[in-house]
Amino acid sequence: MARIWDKYSSKADIIINNGSCYDFVKTVPDKSVTLVITSPPYNIGKKYEKKSSLNEYYLKQEQIIDECVRILADNGSICWQIGNFVENSEIVPLDIFLYPIFQKHNLKLRNRIIWRFGHGLHASKRFSGRYETILWFTKTDNYIFNLDAVRIPQKYPQKKYFKGNRIGELSCNPLGKNPSDIWDIPNVKNNHVEKTIHPCQFPIELVERLVLALTNENDFVFDPFLGVGSTSAAAVKNKRKGMGCEIIEEYYAVAVERTKLAMEGKLRTRPMNKPIYDPQNPKVNLEYEWEITSTQFALFNKKPVYRAGATK
Ligand SMILES: C[S@@+](CC[C@H](N)C(=O)[O-])C[C@H]1O[C@@H](n2cnc3c(N)ncnc32)[C@H](O)[C@@H]1O
Repeated sequence: MARIWDKYSSKADIIINNGSCYDFVKTVPDKSVTLVITSPPYNIGKKYEKKSSLNEYYLKQEQIIDECVRILADNGSICWQIGNFVENSEIVPLDIFLYPIFQKHNLKLRNRIIWRFGHGLHASKRFSGRYETILWFTKTDNYIFNLDAVRIPQKYPQKKYFKGNRIGELSCNPLGKNPSDIWDIPNVKNNHVEKTIHPCQFPIELVERLVLALTNENDFVFDPFLGVGSTSAAAVKNKRKGMGCEIIEEYYAVAVERTKLAMEGKLRTRPMNKPIYDPQNPKVNLEYEWEITSTQFALFNKKPVYRAGATK
């Protein structure tokens, strides 16, 4: 089994550094990674971050983004996954706020992916937030995009042309359809199979889709804010090389453990493209689902009881 290195080495296949990305990234050579995927701190006072002014936050983000662009290969991509800065019920969409930094480097925005999920805090002074975004940039026009690797099932796979010279042939791609720029993927809450001690970890299936589409085997995938190692685990699970930094020792230890399990093929993950649990159709894929207790399941399966006189 490959060794997990702590410092950058051209010989390494997996590097997980227990330190600050601002120091580590300086040791990485120019154009040596094919994909940067990360979810940085949002400056909202989570236990792993110190809240600062938005201006200071911008400058810190600029520092790491500048370095990520430097180490990115010409056929590579950067995926910056981010949500909102929130104060007194007012939001600042951080992707829009940070966009000028990427633009300054002439990176090309290919998609602003909406990652939609079902659960989170309930707001009382605005509508509850149920999506975040992923800005996908490429360095040049000559970039890796393996669409076939991430196609999803067609809604009507047997649909055929009913007129014209291809009449009777299948009208949709038998390999599946383009997954589009709206991704419904459950976020990692308490009953999710991947849940760890981290309050906001990536679902591995979200990283896998980007890794498969935007890199080839043996390419390096880098996450400067690695958390509990979802990116490195998704990379090695798919025969890529992984590199990342995590400043908090407890999270770093979990990242190492999960990456090792992924290398051994033993990490339990929610499968890619698994349908989301639907309370209207409770027989669908209950295994591994989140926030579905047996009591809820029993409730969903019971016929509704109507109060006398209530309209059905
Ligand atoms: C939003 S979380 C990322 C979680 C990650 N996507 C996962 O799946 O576990 C941001 C992480 O960045 C880490 N962090 C904050 N500042 C850092 C720095 N300067 N260098 C490395 N990691 C840092 C935090 O401790 C936190 O775990």
